[in-house]
Amino acid sequence: MSDIYDPQFVKGVFDRCGRNYRWWSFVASFGFVAIWRRQCVAALPPFPNDAPHGVDMMAGTGEVWGPLLARHPQIASITAIDISSEMHRQAVERLHHGRSDRIRHLELDALKNDLPPEKADFLISTFGMKTFNADQHARFAAEVARVLKPGGVFSIIEASDPKGWALRPLYLFYLGRVLPMIERVFLRGAEDFAMLEPYARGFGDCSGIAKALETNGLEVTFRRHFFGCATSVCGRKPN
Ligand SMILES: C[S@@+](CC[C@H](N)C(=O)[O-])C[C@H]1O[C@@H](n2cnc3c(N)ncnc32)[C@H](O)[C@@H]1O
Repeated sequence: MSDIYDPQFVKGVFDRCGRNYRWWSFVASFGFVAIWRRQCVAALPPFPNDAPHGVDMMAGTGEVWGPLLARHPQIASITAIDISSEMHRQAVERLHHGRSDRIRHLELDALKNDLPPEKADFLISTFGMKTFNADQHARFAAEVARVLKPGGVFSIIEASDPKGWALRPLYLFYLGRVLPMIERVFLRGAEDFAMLEPYARGFGDCSGIAKALETNGLEVTFRRHFFGCATSVCGRKPN
């Protein structure tokens, strides 16, 4: 079995399921992914200036740009980082209308980026944490601290294991059994979508990344969303 946290393996998964990712993640989550993206945007603390430049880490098909630019039309630019060429391609094809002048695409490993230090006013990341292991979370937290300027803000959200929720067994049954079955019947590339379940199970929640961000000197607020089915972490790099 390949190392499922190897960035090249992850790239392969998303290159193969990129074409269906956008609509299927919405349907499979009963629309919760869209709600959680909006909550992630809402959790961003105030920007340090009036025309902020920011980074969308693990940007995928750019689903967060709509809610982000609607809430903050003053955003000057977003640098979209993703390792998957197909996810970038989908983003450019389907989401660029009226936004292309403000979005720069970089196809690279977020943990090996060459973004300049202390230049970003904000950093956002939606559903990009589960394909990292604990060591990669620590490296990612160091990257967040490195690229944010003092006073810069961040918000990160990820689908999580709702430990302690009475309906957790049903939820895990849905993720682990029902979804893969539906995917096998209806979706091409179902085995790639089915990978999202082991990633989700291995991830737990955002508390590990919250701790790693704190270790890197950032101010951090941790939140649970819908009984812990998603968790988020937002905050600021102190001045
Ligand atoms: C579940 S998708 C989330 C996409 C989008 N942010 C959203 O809200 O739907 C996770 C994305 O993370 C990207 N990704 C995973 N590991 C990466 C890495 N090391 N560097 C850059 N992108 C990565 C994948 O290619 C994929 O597009």
